[in-house]
Amino acid sequence: MPAIAELPRPIGLLAELTHRCPLACPYCSNPLSLESRIGELSAEDWRRVFNEAAALGVLQAHLSGGEPAARGDLVDIVRSAQESGLYTNLITSGIGLTPARLDALANAGLDHVQISIQDSEAASADHIAGYSGAFERKKTLAAEVVNRKMPLTVNCVVHRLNIGRIEAMVALALQLGASRVEIAHVQYYGWALENRSRLMPTHAQAERAAAEIESLRARYQGAIVIDAVVPDYYARLPKPCMGGWGRRSLNVTPSGKVLPCHAAESIPDLEFWSVREHALSDIWERSPAFNAFRGTAWMREPCASCARRELDFGGCRCQALALTGDARATDPVCHLSPDHRKVQELAALRDDSGFTYRR
Ligand code: SF4
Ligand code: FES
Repeated sequence: MPAIAELPRPIGLLAELTHRCPLACPYCSNPLSLESRIGELSAEDWRRVFNEAAALGVLQAHLSGGEPAARGDLVDIVRSAQESGLYTNLITSGIGLTPARLDALANAGLDHVQISIQDSEAASADHIAGYSGAFERKKTLAAEVVNRKMPLTVNCVVHRLNIGRIEAMVALALQLGASRVEIAHVQYYGWALENRSRLMPTHAQAERAAAEIESLRARYQGAIVIDAVVPDYYARLPKPCMGGWGRRSLNVTPSGKVLPCHAAESIPDLEFWSVREHALSDIWERSPAFNAFRGTAWMREPCASCARRELDFGGCRCQALALTGDARATDPVCHLSPDHRKVQELAALRDDSGFTYRR
């Protein structure tokens, strides 16, 4: 483990304000075991967390959930994040925010809104979200955001059911007035892992999607920024998950546990410290979970002697666990992993039965 003075400083804080959510998306990044309302941090707790985060060097607070609008005190939470000097990004399903509430959030200093869209067509979008009428409500909220001249990002999660409509989803984001659209292939953790064989596109679909995104970028250059999250299972090299474990960001769960990534609780035997008992700087520097996979000393071969070990940090620990049963293994997405073949076999599994919705 590097000396404390040499530790990198985090840039981003993902504040999971609640796990409550009206939607039931089958790829939700929340854990299978959701935290209850009764254990949620108070707005006052969040004020302290934001102040400590800013002192630690964090620049951006991503206010997420579940659905953050399920919190009756969301305006107070946004205000305290803004007062601590953090850039505030609200990640919302679009359900539960009235125009009056949006006004209050804007007045409290909210900097940016990100709305998820499940598809470009209402029936399919509502089916994926598990919520009738969600699509229209999202479009209405997007218009309200843009009317207030707040920057809007539209997030589209892509999988086998909607991968053929990327062009239409980008056109919709443009029509809604977004300045940025994120085309994010499903990442297979939590609920998405449960639904992997129902969500996984074919290799050919994933390749067509990558080419389409490149051509859309050229077509819409200057009109909208198109970001893309690639489909891991068809890659030869893994992503540097979270920019490296304990290097760039931290997640605080609704009850105050601090995690190096949203899926870290899937790794058995990691000890997570809570903001209820520890200062955030203490957690960042000394907590067992943050130090478990920091740096490169924990790595085994082939990562330990690989020239890319400080570029991708061995890939994703949660994926290594999910696919090999060992969080210390090389992420099997890597073509050098002895388990790489497993990824290809899993990607080929198909199941067209109904989703297991997040409930
Ligand atoms: Fe990255 Fe490890 Fe693969 Fe090298 S062997 S490319 S460090 S995952
Ligand atoms: Fe946990 Fe990648 S999601 S390390």
